[in-house]
Amino acid sequence: MENYTHDIPTKILFGKGQIAHLPEILAGYGRRVLLCYGGGSIKKTGLYDEIMTLLKDFTVIECGGIEPNPRISSVERGAKLCREHNVDVILAAGGGSVIDCAKAIAVGTFYEGDLWEMVLTAREGRKALPLVDILTLSATGSEYDGGGVITNPETNEKLGGSYTYPAVSICDPTYTFTVSPYQTAAGSADIMSHVMEGYFAETTDSILSDGIAEALLKTVIKCLPVALKEPDNYAARASLMSASSIACSGIPEYGKKWSGWPCHALEHELSAWYDITHGAGLAILTPRWMRYVLAKDPEQVRPQLARFARNVWGLAGDDEMVLAEQGIAALEKFFADAGLPMTLTELGITDEHFAEMAVHADRGGRLSHSWIPLMPEDSEAILRMCL
Ligand code: NZQ
Ligand code: ZN
Repeated sequence: MENYTHDIPTKILFGKGQIAHLPEILAGYGRRVLLCYGGGSIKKTGLYDEIMTLLKDFTVIECGGIEPNPRISSVERGAKLCREHNVDVILAAGGGSVIDCAKAIAVGTFYEGDLWEMVLTAREGRKALPLVDILTLSATGSEYDGGGVITNPETNEKLGGSYTYPAVSICDPTYTFTVSPYQTAAGSADIMSHVMEGYFAETTDSILSDGIAEALLKTVIKCLPVALKEPDNYAARASLMSASSIACSGIPEYGKKWSGWPCHALEHELSAWYDITHGAGLAILTPRWMRYVLAKDPEQVRPQLARFARNVWGLAGDDEMVLAEQGIAALEKFFADAGLPMTLTELGITDEHFAEMAVHADRGGRLSHSWIPLMPEDSEAILRMCL
């Protein structure tokens, strides 16, 4: 087991009605608020009106229209508004895209120079405006981490980096009742991927982390079908929301060597070129990555996939190879049953850019130094398996 340091400065206010604390939280930072939101879901759900009523004594500057897979142009627009209006605090109301964009705006407000350059060199510790968020979609964990992912459509790049942690995240599961079945399933696939990316790794003696990871996966397996059937089932939505925050927080990877997060590296390439939903891309990629690395390095991968089959899916048997394959099939069926696409072809993606994607995904040696090293030709083969 490896040494680790963990320091999450975010306060989570979880549960029904926690938004009542919003005025006192924001007042602690000032009265001039940049409200970031997406394409309008908060207006349809009534959250926008609720926020405006609570903030009647504040000056609210709006930065709406933030895209899913948020773009650098939105970061630039938000940072400009913060500078022009002397904003004291940013309030992000939405899913991971809105929160990620707000994080980059928080840093971009003080960054001198080109903001795409800031994204290319993103790192913790840069000066940032304080950020408060209201989470409306259980998926990314952006409410409980310092990372953000920003897209530049001109260069076909979607890059993750460290910006700033939210000071406070308001996590009220009732705000997720309106999330569509597709986004609910994609968000759940993202939560599971955050766990699986760390679970399959070189370190095998970090027993607590692996137990936490298995509990998180089983929670999603239990709650996603309930949330799809009964969108306003509070218990299911609440467990998915807690799982979202913990899955990407680093907690399930305590004491584990960094695995390289290969499915995320490849998915960000797909979203960069084709603007697809992150969790849907992960649901397509993950079983293919599993099959590929199982064939490439069975000695390393077989026991871990067999453990996944036993402990997560409750499968039994003595033949580890059979179990490993059954575990992959169970995951694939779970995603398909949730209504997620299972091939890139269904999303209109061809192999046209796979070679470029495979090289770009290894930026900084990320994939060639991952748990089961992937050279660009390996990544390209995995992408082809997804067609
Ligand atoms: O834009 P609006 O109108 O708000 O609609 C959104 C959007 O169309 C809608 N939505 C959100 N909450 C809703 C709702 N619709 C109805 N009711 C609600 N309560 O859902 C759609 C998708 O929203 P989005 O924010 O894009 O989804 P998600 O939370 O999955 O975020 C995805 C982004 O986060 C990045 C992804 O790459 C992608 O860009 N990630 C961020 C991470 C992080 N910060 O740590 C880690 C992840 O691995 C991920 O890469
Ligand atoms: Zn993710």
